[in-house]
Amino acid sequence: MYRSNNCGELRISNVGESVTLAGWVQRTREHGGLIFVDLRDRYGITQLVFDEEENATLCQEAKHLGREYVVQVEGAVRERYSKNPNMPTGDIEINVSTLRVLNAAATPPFTIEDYTDGGDDLRMKYRYLDLRRTPVRANLELRHKFCLAVRHFLDSKGFLEIETPVLVGSTPEGARDFIVPSRMNPGQFYALPQSPQTLKQLLMVAGMDRYFQIVKCFRDEDLRADRQPEFTQIDCEMSFVEQDDIICTFEEMTKHLFKEVRGVDLGEQPFLRLSWHEAMRRFGSDKPDMRFGMEFVELMDVLKGKSDFSVFNDAAYIGGICAEGCAVYTRKQIDELTNFVKSQQVGAKGMVYARVEEDGNVKSSVDKFYSQEVLQELKTAMQAKPGDLILILSGDDAMKTRKQLCELRLLMGERLGLRDKNKFALLWVVDFPMFEWSEEEGRLMAMHHPFTAPKPCDVPKLDTDPANVLADAYDMVCNGVEVGGGSIRIHDAVLQAKIFEVLGFTPEKAQEQFGFLMNAFKFGAPPHGGLAYGLDRFVSLFAGLDSIRDCIAFPKNNSGRDVMLDAPSVVDQKQLDELMLDLRKTEE
Ligand code: AMO
Repeated sequence: MYRSNNCGELRISNVGESVTLAGWVQRTREHGGLIFVDLRDRYGITQLVFDEEENATLCQEAKHLGREYVVQVEGAVRERYSKNPNMPTGDIEINVSTLRVLNAAATPPFTIEDYTDGGDDLRMKYRYLDLRRTPVRANLELRHKFCLAVRHFLDSKGFLEIETPVLVGSTPEGARDFIVPSRMNPGQFYALPQSPQTLKQLLMVAGMDRYFQIVKCFRDEDLRADRQPEFTQIDCEMSFVEQDDIICTFEEMTKHLFKEVRGVDLGEQPFLRLSWHEAMRRFGSDKPDMRFGMEFVELMDVLKGKSDFSVFNDAAYIGGICAEGCAVYTRKQIDELTNFVKSQQVGAKGMVYARVEEDGNVKSSVDKFYSQEVLQELKTAMQAKPGDLILILSGDDAMKTRKQLCELRLLMGERLGLRDKNKFALLWVVDFPMFEWSEEEGRLMAMHHPFTAPKPCDVPKLDTDPANVLADAYDMVCNGVEVGGGSIRIHDAVLQAKIFEVLGFTPEKAQEQFGFLMNAFKFGAPPHGGLAYGLDRFVSLFAGLDSIRDCIAFPKNNSGRDVMLDAPSVVDQKQLDELMLDLRKTEE
């Protein structure tokens, strides 16, 4: 037996017991003939003591212990003279009688403490050392608890966990696929699933009724703090349901998870539901952060055509936000905001600001164009009080300008401390448009995915006005993060074929790419719908992390590399030959 106890469990009640512990040396220190060693494992830290007077040889051995040595000790549990109330084991220590070095360790490249001196790259290269740190390990423990709670909840509601294949066919629409060459079928490729979307729909055709899977998904897209090329979904699908059934089931699951895993009671009230159009109008985002207000006020009526200021006169959209108490911002602080807006290079033509002074007068950066009367109207429209700062963006593309104003709102929310990580604001965004115009492709694209059902009342518009067709699609948003999304699906082969037509597929192409699904629908497909949560995003919200990387054991960096495994990497010519692949020379 390597150990009788772990390093986190001994207490004052164990005093007098003989124990064997095993773990890593966190640190050693000498103090008046005594050597203290902090021994660490997954469960905690226990203090070991070696006494020069009692056993000089053993003490000599202990002096040679370096950081991260793996050791086994035997000794007696005794009460400490100076207790450490900050440690669960802080009342006791082990008076060591036997020491065995199980494995010496090279000096680690960074200190394995809660606050480490290791930079991001170094920690990722030695991720197995980073994972020894308590805060990182705690994230994985939280993830484990979260998954268990999900499984228990969904099991209690009759969902079956069913695995779907990882080697599937490539399908268009959506992000870029990762593809895998097939040796046995030369010249042909599998794709890694971006999600098990079509497979879970086929499981509904198969009569499974309620499916879920905690599943890896793969998307070759540009990475951000909340995006990884491989990530995990809690993927769910239900038969014989309408949108409300799905929303209610998963609202209940979300409340359960918050309570069980995070200890937060979200209350009895249903989550707020905002239509996509309203979310865009009021917050410029389909994932608004509702922890704070600072809603957009449209100012076209107030400012357009009221002076010679051509920037506003030519604008398709003018909108403002009111930052409480920020009239004291210095010129430098305002310039920082202007630069922030400009750095996004999206649509707005710079930022206009107006301060509401203590006497109620408004002083703005466009004073020479506007009378105090118009500025007072602005103040009223913005419901601004003395001491407030009004920030205004305008542009000739309303959507792009709103998106920029959204970024400014988030920045101001951050600056004013309104985005508290211990506060959670959840909502559903519903009634998404079915399609969005893609400049790149020069055609309509599915906003969610091509299997999403249009609202029944909008079906006739598919022929006449597809751009204004709404979908039975919904996203769950928490603190400005899209944690999940789904829809009611089309279960009728004819309607599905119509959607492919609107998306610009010829009937032959649609049959080639999605024939398996449309054919399945001919054999009695139940009405069905579902959603998928981003597990990494959900867990990182619970843990208060800035990046989903921190709750993934072995994440990729922003260039999609695993720096620890040094992947992706070149492969042997032999492997390429077997796959009948020739590589083009790349420019150095
Ligand atoms: P969607 O594409 O919206 O829907 O994905 C569902 C959820 O997965 C998370 N997510 C990601 N997380 C980390 N890195 C990524 N690259 C990434 N991409 C998405 C988000 C998102 O809300 N099949 C549909 C679901 C359905 O209709 O049932 C789907 O995949 O949290």
